[in-house]
Amino acid sequence: MDKHTIVGVLGAGSMGSGIAQIAATEGHQVVLVDLNNQVLNKSKAKLESILTRLEEKGKLNAAEVIGRIKFSENISDFFECGIVIEAIVENLEVKQHVFEELENIVSDTCILASNTSSLSIASIASACQNPEKVIGIHFFNPAPLMPLVEIIPAVQTSEKTKELSRKLIDDWKKVTVLAKDTPGFIVNRVARPFYGEALRIYEEGIADFATIDWAMTELGGFRMGPFTLMDYIGNDVNYTVTETVFAAFYYDPRYKPSFTQKRHSEAGWYGRKSGRGYYNYAEGVEMPQPTKDEILGKQILDRILMMLINEAVDALFLNIATKEDIDLAMTKGVNYPKGLLAWADEIGLKNVLTKLESMFNEYGEDRYRPSPLLRRMVRDGKKFF
Ligand code: NAI
Repeated sequence: MDKHTIVGVLGAGSMGSGIAQIAATEGHQVVLVDLNNQVLNKSKAKLESILTRLEEKGKLNAAEVIGRIKFSENISDFFECGIVIEAIVENLEVKQHVFEELENIVSDTCILASNTSSLSIASIASACQNPEKVIGIHFFNPAPLMPLVEIIPAVQTSEKTKELSRKLIDDWKKVTVLAKDTPGFIVNRVARPFYGEALRIYEEGIADFATIDWAMTELGGFRMGPFTLMDYIGNDVNYTVTETVFAAFYYDPRYKPSFTQKRHSEAGWYGRKSGRGYYNYAEGVEMPQPTKDEILGKQILDRILMMLINEAVDALFLNIATKEDIDLAMTKGVNYPKGLLAWADEIGLKNVLTKLESMFNEYGEDRYRPSPLLRRMVRDGKKFF
């Protein structure tokens, strides 16, 4: 696939618009389809404003880029596409139905990709007569700004589909990582403790939201604290992802959702979008101050970080991705200050294991079990890099 490939994008919501912007900026003709005409108009207006701003910075010619995008309500307009990337509602039945329909419109060689965050690619592909042409291409929000894209071949996906898709997204100057078709792929799996362990620390009464956020940003170097980030994502959205991942892992206690988040969501305290989440964003309300106790802060950071590292090690143990891709995914997809496996090397794997074992012994919960790979590497005196 090259610049002459026509790129189809289905769904003109936040993700679909972003993906269309990337492809058009890279010189492709793009067909952007949505069922809803109002959404298409909104998407067009938003893209025009973003592209005009980029033109003012001398980055591109806005009229030229927007001129390459055909906004359409008709899915049949995909007939000449070399690839179609689907970014519609996160519902398996709807996606399966759409993939079945798409296959009848496009040519035999067209790749059909899904931007799903949480559904299995195998189940989407199973709706097609030629499932070897179906693949997961998972962008992060906002797609034009976040460098990472996870490429997820299903068991049915052909080598050719995988190679062509990865090459295309690499050509779009994105950082691609290859992930196994398992719940949460890399990022949404490995990042779970960033939220879950922070909530647990709060529930145990060890520290309040502001102090936990302070520890993670000031002492840990994370760009945003977990509670600030959950308020940003929306507690409703973040809670649903956690619940979905938990169920998809056959209720592995490591991914157990939290009542605190559930209640916040039930109360309508979604975060920034509703004016209140863990913090109150109403005008004139002062933000709570953290307790800047370095010893406490270090304990909080250590506990969350050890759980994150354990998740990353376990993802490697189960061959979800290579060690390089696991570290790239977390630095390029969610802006972690360091790759978790490299960070583990720096701390010392023996130290990581000791801390996890001490939590496992104290709580007696499966949630804190160290990954077998961590034990093995400590026993053999190995490092990741
Ligand atoms: P959105 O709700 O902003 O947009 C979805 C769009 O699809 C809507 O405009 C809707 O009118 C349209 N649509 C629904 N059914 C359709 C159909 N049958 N044919 C044509 N258009 C249809 O959703 P968003 O946030 O852009 O997410 C889209 C997909 O991307 C989902 O699968 C989501 O899980 C995934 N995703 C979302 C991320 C995020 O942070 N929002 C990040 C990465 C992936």
